[in-house]
Amino acid sequence: MISKVIELAREAGAIIRSADHIEARNKSGPADFVTQYDGKVEQFLREKLAALRPDAQFLGEESAHAVDEASPLWIVDPIDGTTNFIRAFSRSAVSICLCEGGARQLGVIYDPYTDQLYSAERGRGAALNGAPIRVSPRPASEGIAIFGTAAYDREFADATFRLARALFDRSLDVRRFGAAVLDFCDIAAGRAELFCECLLSPWDFAAGALIVEEAGGAATALDGSPLPIARKSSVFCSNAACRGERMGIAAAAGPLPVI
Ligand code: IPD
Ligand code: CA
Ligand code: CA
Repeated sequence: MISKVIELAREAGAIIRSADHIEARNKSGPADFVTQYDGKVEQFLREKLAALRPDAQFLGEESAHAVDEASPLWIVDPIDGTTNFIRAFSRSAVSICLCEGGARQLGVIYDPYTDQLYSAERGRGAALNGAPIRVSPRPASEGIAIFGTAAYDREFADATFRLARALFDRSLDVRRFGAAVLDFCDIAAGRAELFCECLLSPWDFAAGALIVEEAGGAATALDGSPLPIARKSSVFCSNAACRGERMGIAAAAGPLPVI
């Protein structure tokens, strides 16, 4: 099954890489865009994944709807980092996760610009282009910290920048790249040590959380509770050595707006 999902992620990535005449329009607000390619990639994956597992539901960013979390479910972000995609920042990716029995079972993330394919199956470890990957052993004081800005939900701005300050104070430096699924992969591959965002959608964290866990790290909500399957959540993701920083960072961010 995973090799077929990997093939599909690569085919979806080829669609992204070959895009031209990108037409962007606003979705939920001025910072939130969708292009004809988001829909095209999602439609492609919806059809192909249904053929692989006809019994599974499909939750994609561009066609989000209520799902049964306990039954088999594909969760897909066809293009994570849409603004990067529109502006040719070359930092966007496809993300595919299969959930079953109320747990994330298989995750695949493909960066078509660097040809890096991250994959994991529950209990079987994580890989980058087929070679095993592990989180780094570095403590926060020697670490790189990534944060996301939940830019479509501006009520999170104050908490986001308090959190960014807390990350900066505890690490060597901070980064903000604009494609959450690849931020998880940077933790899994040991390039960075911490990644936090005050609000992400299930398609932003489903595959990435499993890949980080299978690489020896952890991903939870900022309050330490498990990440949900199909609901939005804050995210605190790190290697094992930085796990103890969660409470201090969450306290510095303060209470999050209730949405
Ligand atoms: C967004 C990106 C971004 C993160 C946002 C996401 P999209 O996804 O992952 O890094 O900060 O919260 O919504 O809209 O480009 O698929
Ligand atoms: Ca996304
Ligand atoms: Ca997206």
